[in-house]
Amino acid sequence: MKTRITELFGIQHPIIQGGMHFVGLAPLAAAVSQAGGLGMITGLTLRTPELLAKEIARAGELTDKPFGVNLTFLPAFSDPPYPEYIAAIAAGGVKIVETAGRSPEKYMPALKAAGIKVIHKCTSVRHALKAERIGCDAVSVDGFECGGHPGEDDVPNFILLPRAAEELKVPFVASGGMVDGRSLVAALALGADGINMGTRFIATKEAPVHENVKKAIVAASELDTRLIMRRLKNTERVLNNAGVTRLLEIEREKGDKLAIADIYGQVAGIYPKVMVEGDVEAGAWSCGMAAGLIHDIPSVRDLVDRIMADAERLVRGRLTSLLAPHASRP
Ligand SMILES: Cc1cc2nc3c(=O)[nH]c(=O)nc-3n(C[C@H](O)[C@H](O)[C@H](O)COP(=O)(O)O)c2cc1C
Repeated sequence: MKTRITELFGIQHPIIQGGMHFVGLAPLAAAVSQAGGLGMITGLTLRTPELLAKEIARAGELTDKPFGVNLTFLPAFSDPPYPEYIAAIAAGGVKIVETAGRSPEKYMPALKAAGIKVIHKCTSVRHALKAERIGCDAVSVDGFECGGHPGEDDVPNFILLPRAAEELKVPFVASGGMVDGRSLVAALALGADGINMGTRFIATKEAPVHENVKKAIVAASELDTRLIMRRLKNTERVLNNAGVTRLLEIEREKGDKLAIADIYGQVAGIYPKVMVEGDVEAGAWSCGMAAGLIHDIPSVRDLVDRIMADAERLVRGRLTSLLAPHASRP
């Protein structure tokens, strides 16, 4: 399939794996790229630029196809050394960066000087337009359904994607709730040039996380995510569990007086416990409503091939058959 996204990134299928803390490491990123999509190493999971350089080299040994690096600009008081991370990305020969969180404006000159294509992930049309204005090459539009941070506007993809299509000139992918061939066809119909998936890629053989995490996603329904940190204007969609239930109790008790320190125990240092040790009840970890549509743990290649085959079958079969036959020409 050819779209503006496959052309822009030089990939076979319009399927991107979004950056995921403690999940988007070399084995998954390389597997997605090997399968014809675009894999993404999650920069900040590597604690230093030197460790990121090593992870980029590791992915390069596993695939000769293009892959990218996610750089998440955190709402933090003390920034990680972003210029050094960008230098490591450039030195590693990576030509695609997915930015997320705050606007990447400050870092665009350095990224562009290194010949890097930037896809900015955002949750509103206004932020997407800003990304376009500051020179991003593409946008990933994350609807309210998404795992991770859906922003504060709560606009689901059935509205957000066609709104983005109305306004944007740069190519964009649909993110949030994307899992299969139906998602891809729907996203294309709504004006997107491809899809970005997070939660779906965790439940794959190659995702370098504990089996308990994959099983928890397969077991979850679309009703099993919760929104946390709304009062802190840092909303995150996470899988419900014992730690999250406690966190929500604290949020209710504290009300408007809630501070991040009150929920530190449920949000800080949780990812290694969950993803490495398999303690899926430990606290808050991102998960999308898409969990309700995830019923198996295939290899990345089987998943990507299935998405593409199902999308083609859907377009050529069901959708085409719904059209009235062409009137015969005189
Ligand atoms: C476990 C997990 C961790 C994530 N970590 C990050 C991250 O560090 N940076 C980022 O930009 N997005 C992160 N995301 C968001 C994904 O890249 C993607 O935008 C989102 O998962 C799309 O929604 P979906 O889960 O419905 O596919 C994370 C998502 C999940 C599920």
